[in-house]
Amino acid sequence: MKIFKLDAINSTSTYLKQLSKETDVDNWTVVSAEYQTLGRGQVETKWISEKGKNLLFSILIKYESLKIQNHFYLNCAISLGIYFALLKFQLPKLMIKWPNDIMADNKKLGGILIENSLRNDRIYQSIVGIGLNVNQKDFSEYPFKAVSIKNLTGTKIERDTLLHELINSIRVQINFLKNGEFDLLHKKYKEVLFRINKPHMFESNGKIFIGKIIGVSESGKLQIEDELENRLEFNFKEVKYL
Ligand code: BTN
Repeated sequence: MKIFKLDAINSTSTYLKQLSKETDVDNWTVVSAEYQTLGRGQVETKWISEKGKNLLFSILIKYESLKIQNHFYLNCAISLGIYFALLKFQLPKLMIKWPNDIMADNKKLGGILIENSLRNDRIYQSIVGIGLNVNQKDFSEYPFKAVSIKNLTGTKIERDTLLHELINSIRVQINFLKNGEFDLLHKKYKEVLFRINKPHMFESNGKIFIGKIIGVSESGKLQIEDELENRLEFNFKEVKYL
């Protein structure tokens, strides 16, 4: 496994994507950076991170045969890999928020941006970008509630060790994916899903409603049961957690 450590870059994911277009990049190549000038989040948001405090990295993963229709299990494998690597910190309420935010203490601890390259009906490679709040203390300027491992444990974390642990843990879960263990990944994901089975407020299409998350479909849609016991399904951005 090759790890390229950069001081500053626009985005580790943009950089790795470009590199993989220009040269034959090995499977499990990692690019990590101390700072990103154009860190990208999901649906064209920005990922902001103080210089030298957190983990910002992207991994190139190649597959021999992963059908597009199984993309949700890839999501599960990456989120679970991160989740399991973080368990040792005993963070309060460590959970995965659909589709793939890492939450602790009801705040965002990390985010994942998965960009897949397709050929016919297969995903042949993914650039998996991960931003994890590790030692940063102040998130007061953030547009959402965010937190770091240091905020929750009071200790400064050795980032390099954690980076290796995260990659190894993701590898374990990706092996389940490559072996077609989709049900297992789905089950484990559901077990640690943020707000599962608890009534909560949601918003969709300008309407506010109470419902409880009951799971995620095989195609990756969030399943919510409303007060009338109707089962609703949502794609990302079709529903908001209030
Ligand atoms: C999210 O919106 O929750 C996903 C955030 C992903 C951020 C990481 S940081 C490393 C990699 N490079 C990027 O530009 N984005 C991802």
